[in-house]
This record gives sequence, C-alpha cells and structure tokens, in this order.
Amino acid sequence: MKVATIVGARPQFIKSLPVSNEIRKTAKEVLVHTGQHYDYNMSEVFFKEMGIPEPNYNLNAGSGSQATQTAEILFRLEPVLVNERPDIVIIYGDTNSTLAGALAAAKLHIPVAHVEAGLRSFDKNMPEEINRIIADHISDILFCPTQTAVDNLKSEGITKGVELVGDVMYDAALHFGKLAEKNSSVLERLSLEPKGYMLATIHRASNTDNPENLRVLLGSFAESEQVIVFPIHPRTRKVIADNGLDSLVSGSCIRMVDPVGYIDFLKLEQNASKILTDSGGVQKEAFFFAVPCITLRNTTEWVETVECGWNTLVNIDKDLLLSQIAEFSPAGEPPKLFGDGRASLYIAQCLTTRDQRAENIREEA
Ligand code: UD1
Ligand code: UDP
Repeated sequence: MKVATIVGARPQFIKSLPVSNEIRKTAKEVLVHTGQHYDYNMSEVFFKEMGIPEPNYNLNAGSGSQATQTAEILFRLEPVLVNERPDIVIIYGDTNSTLAGALAAAKLHIPVAHVEAGLRSFDKNMPEEINRIIADHISDILFCPTQTAVDNLKSEGITKGVELVGDVMYDAALHFGKLAEKNSSVLERLSLEPKGYMLATIHRASNTDNPENLRVLLGSFAESEQVIVFPIHPRTRKVIADNGLDSLVSGSCIRMVDPVGYIDFLKLEQNASKILTDSGGVQKEAFFFAVPCITLRNTTEWVETVECGWNTLVNIDKDLLLSQIAEFSPAGEPPKLFGDGRASLYIAQCLTTRDQRAENIREEA
C-alpha cells in the first residue's frame, strides 16, 4: 500500500507523526508539505525535534487569501498525486491544506481518509468549519476522535466509512508530554515557577482580522495579576504591530515570546495555572493535562471539554474574561474522552485491513 500524507500547518505536523510512524511499519508513505506554514518556528522545528522525516515534496504554497492559498495548494498538489499514484491520501484537521488535499485527491478518484473528521463548531464564519464540512463530505474513510464527531456526521447523513478511533493529538501528547517533563528547560529559561503563570495563544481569524477584538483581549490580559506567557503566532504579531497594540503589552504582565517548539509548549501547558486560547489543539491539550482552559471564542468544536467543566467560552467580553481568569476552577479529575492513546495504531490497522480486503477482491476477480 502507498499512502500520501498531506500536511502544511503547525498542528498537522504534530497530528500526523504518530499516525505516520504506525503506517510506515507496513506501508510506503509519501509525505507532502504544502508550505502553508514556513517560518522555522512554525514548521521546521517540529520536523527536527519530533523526528519527522524530511518531506518528499514541499509545495511552497505559502500565505495568501483563503482562495489563493487553497488554489495554490490544489494546483501544486495535483501533479504530485498524478505522478505518485497513492492508494490513499490522508488529510488532517481543518486547514486550507486539508481542504485542498481532499479536493485534489477526490477529483483524481483517489480514496481520501480524513483524520479528525466530524468536528463541528456550527459557525460557518470560521474558514475551518467550511473546510471540515467539505472535507468530510468527499472523504471515504472518516476517523473520528469522539462520539460527538460520529454523531455530527450521522446528522449530515454520513455513516459509511466512519471509524471512532480516539484522538491522535492525545497519542502525541502522551508520548511527547513525558519527554517534555524530563527534557524541556523552558521554565528555567523564562524564569517561571510551576503554576506561577498563565499561558495564552491567539491566532483565529475572528480575533485577528478584527484588531478591536485583539485590543480587548490584550487589554484584559494586561489587567491580570499573574504573568501571562504569550507565544505569539506570526499572524497575531503582525496585527499587533500594524495597529499599535504593543503599548498594551509593554510594561504589563504579558510576556510576548516567539512561537516555541512542541516539547517546550507542552511543558508550558503542563505547568500553567490556566490556559487562555482560541486554538483547537491547545484546548484539548489543556484538558489532557488537567489545566483549566478559558477559550477566547463563542463556539468550540471540542464541546465535551466544556460540558465536563474543564473549558469555558468567554468570547470577547472583558468582564467575563477577567472574572473567569480570577475564578474559573474546575474540580476533580477530567474524564477520559479522547480514546486510549492508540488512535494512530487503530488508524493504521484500519487502513491495512482495508488494503488487504481490496487486494483479496482484486485476486478473486
Ligand atoms: C492556519 C489554519 C488554522 C490553524 C492554524 C494553525 C486555515 C484557514 N487556517 O491558520 O485553522 O488553526 O493554521 O496554526 O487554514 N504566517 C507567517 N509565517 C508562517 C505562517 C503564517 O508569517 O510560517 C503569517 C502570514 O502573514 C499569513 C498569516 O500568518 O498570512 C496566516 O497564516 P495562514 O496559514 O493563512 O493561517 P493561520 O492563521 O496560520
Ligand atoms: N504549539 C506549539 N508551539 C506554540 C503554540 C502551539 O508547539 O508556540 C502546538 C500546540 O502544542 C498544539 C498545536 O501547536 O499541539 C496547536 O496549533 P495551533 O494552535 O496553531 O492550531 P489549531 O490547533 O488551532 O488548529
């Protein structure tokens, strides 16, 4: 079996590694980096520190508007798939790389497997929601992290090819979380004490395309009594610089730093008193490490984390945000919601069994 794995954005490098490691035990993998993310600390650092093999192709699609970026990836990916003729294309999550990967493969009649299928925020203002819906509807195998995801697909009429396997980010966090505990020196480097700081990330279109939202968020952070470590996505850094928002940060409790590698980021998550984020993956990782999460959005696709009390949505409301920063304190232990840490193994087994079935059918014909 020959598998083409399509990745391009930071979280996809993290999601794909455990799956690719399992797949490479029995199948040939062609790794395609779309080039959606390209800064060293948004891309190469993950390949280096997680041991991801050099991609077989880098499409260097780069940044652009929604349509331009998606079209560039489509245009550059098609000849690679025509040339490589994989038996299956695997896509991850909900980015423009996911959508373009799904479209390019489906139009070439190559089966598509979507990892992290079935997620819905029910907010079509998010580019990611559109990417998820289209990718799911043209995928042949849909690997769901949760029962909610399976139910979402069912309500859209998708039941064929749906596999509940658990969450591949949980697999990655279990493995690399242990390495982070032992090997990361980020707390010492940033002079932080365990539970003596909060950790923040912001990059969603809803919080960056409208600089006023970012102004409210940073203004609220600046009133916090604890240090807030803020590894800043390049998109957000640009909006802060272009709109003179640096003045809200300088001299405040906000510690803006460049994006950090995965191992350091996990260590920062594990030891934070609270996490403030609009990221999908970071909401989940907060949950894995039992760190209270305040989500800077009014919807989430990870509804279970809210329902069980470990995540709270604040949208762009200064009073609510400040009160949650002061008071949000879930009790007890988070439940097990994201599988048993072997989602990647189940995905690889499912693809291999499917391939064997196809092989048998070909032999009998
Ligand atoms: C993308 C995904 C989002 C995901 C996020 C992960 C889409 C629609 N969005 O958002 O779902 O949560 O990745 O981080 O696919 N930039 C750089 N250097 C880089 C990458 C980006 O400077 O290496 C800047 C560019 O100015 C670019 C902007 O960030 O225009 C946005 O990058 P883009 O990949 O389009 O979207 P993200 O916000 O990163
Ligand atoms: N992450 C990282 N360094 C950072 C910020 C995030 O390694 O400075 C990791 C984080 O551990 C998680 C993933 O990036 O696994 C989340 O990516 P992001 O927030 O960019 O995207 P989303 O999950 O919202 O799609």
